[in-house]
This record gives sequence, C-alpha cells and structure tokens, in this order.
Amino acid sequence: MDYGLKNRLSRIIKPKDNRTVMLAIDHGYFMGPTSGLEDIKSSIVPLLPYADSLMLTRGILRSQVDAAIDIPIVLRVSGGTSILKDDLSDEDIAVSMEDAIRLNASAVALSIFIGSKNERQGVINLARLVDKGNRYGIPVLAVTAVGREMTRDARYLSLAVRIAAEMGASIVKTYYCDDFERVVDTCPVPVIVAGGKKTGEKQALELAYNAVKNGAAGVDMGRNIFQSGKPINMIMAVRAVVHDGLTAEEAYGTKL
Ligand code: R5P
Repeated sequence: MDYGLKNRLSRIIKPKDNRTVMLAIDHGYFMGPTSGLEDIKSSIVPLLPYADSLMLTRGILRSQVDAAIDIPIVLRVSGGTSILKDDLSDEDIAVSMEDAIRLNASAVALSIFIGSKNERQGVINLARLVDKGNRYGIPVLAVTAVGREMTRDARYLSLAVRIAAEMGASIVKTYYCDDFERVVDTCPVPVIVAGGKKTGEKQALELAYNAVKNGAAGVDMGRNIFQSGKPINMIMAVRAVVHDGLTAEEAYGTKL
C-alpha cells in the first residue's frame, strides 16, 4: 500500500488495536442545524480530546475548528441534496481533492446509495474519488445505507459494503444489523458503524459493543454522543467499549 495512504489510515484506525472512535458531525450537510450541532465551538470542541478522528464538512472545519487542534480529519466531500427531498441519493462530489489536501484531511468521505435511483451516480462518484485519492495517498471512506426507507439487514448491507470496497474504498461506514459478522466477513476493508438516531446511552453502548464484538473496526458515531445529556461521559464510555474491551454495562457504570 502507498506510504501516504497507509500513514493517513493509521491516524484514523489506531494500529495498537485496529480500532477507531470517529466522531461524526457532518449531519448539517443535508440536515441543516441538527440538534446538538448549533454551536460547534461549545458543544463539539470539548469532545475532541476523546475522539480518534472527526468527520465533518469543510465549511464547519474552516469556521469552527481551530487549525491548531490535533485531530485527524475525515472530510465529507459529497453533497447535493437535503432532507426536504424524498430521495437523498442525488449526490455528487462537492469538494476537490486539492481542497481536501489544503485542509490536511486524513481521509475523504462520500455516500453511495445502493438500490436507489441514483445508485450508478454514487458508485461512479466513489470510483472517481478513489482515483483522485490514490493520486495523493488520501484514503476514501464510503458511507452506505443512509436514507429513510430500506431494509438494513445483513443481505442488503453486505451487498452495499462489498460494492464500496470493490470500488476501492479504504474504510466503509454502515449500520449495525443482526448477523453483522456476515457483513464484515465478506468485506476486505475495515467496516465502522454509524450510531443512527439518538437512543438511550445504554442502548447506543450496546450497539457499539455488539459491532466491535462482531468484527467492526469501531464506530463513526454522532447523535448518540453530541445529543447525550452528558456528551463527554458518553464519548468516554464509547472509547471504553471500542478500545478497552468494556461491556456496555461496564462502560455505562464507570463513565456515566
Ligand atoms: C450521515 O450521512 C452522516 O454521515 C453521519 O455521519 C452518520 O449517520 C453518523 O452519525 P450518527 O451516529 O448520528 O448516525
């Protein structure tokens, strides 16, 4: 593997245990001022010491995150639609690779929408982004299965995740499901799990625990951290599950 690409990946998925806690705050790119993300400086910046990397858009990175903060950046580079549309799949590459490099991104992220009417567009966008990333050693995180109506089961998710890997993604983010090991076992690159809509802290920790137990390389969690009543404690608990091997119960008991 290319040195730069490998080096950047190791900033995200920590070589000591091949796991990661990625803090996702990119929701505004299609959801606008999501609850908990209205004021990034006060709600998110205090969480950064506990995250392995930060996933966000260039607009929020430039305006809200001090460049001196030492956190690897996973830059969301796809966009083009909003929650006002019934179909979220009409996305394109919205940031140049040169700008991602200027921002010192450790990886770039793009969504694909397998089974949607814009399936082809997303898959080709991913392949093009991988080509551009390979030119400079920038890994691509493919995000799969975002959207309202779909059956997020092992059959669908293994299809979506495998297609992302086949197109050259270095990491794939998807949702947790029953038989999740099937999704991971048929994907040749690390899979990380999104948290999804806010649930109870214990439930979100159980999701993280089951995900890593069944082969995920960690989580890319947003709302279940920044919408928690105790976001710092919650991210510490997620870390304890992902990196220290605590059960959800143990992490909840010791951190929350
Ligand atoms: C969705 O497209 C966004 O990329 C989010 O980053 C992702 O869903 C993870 O955040 P959450 O844990 O809130 O679902």
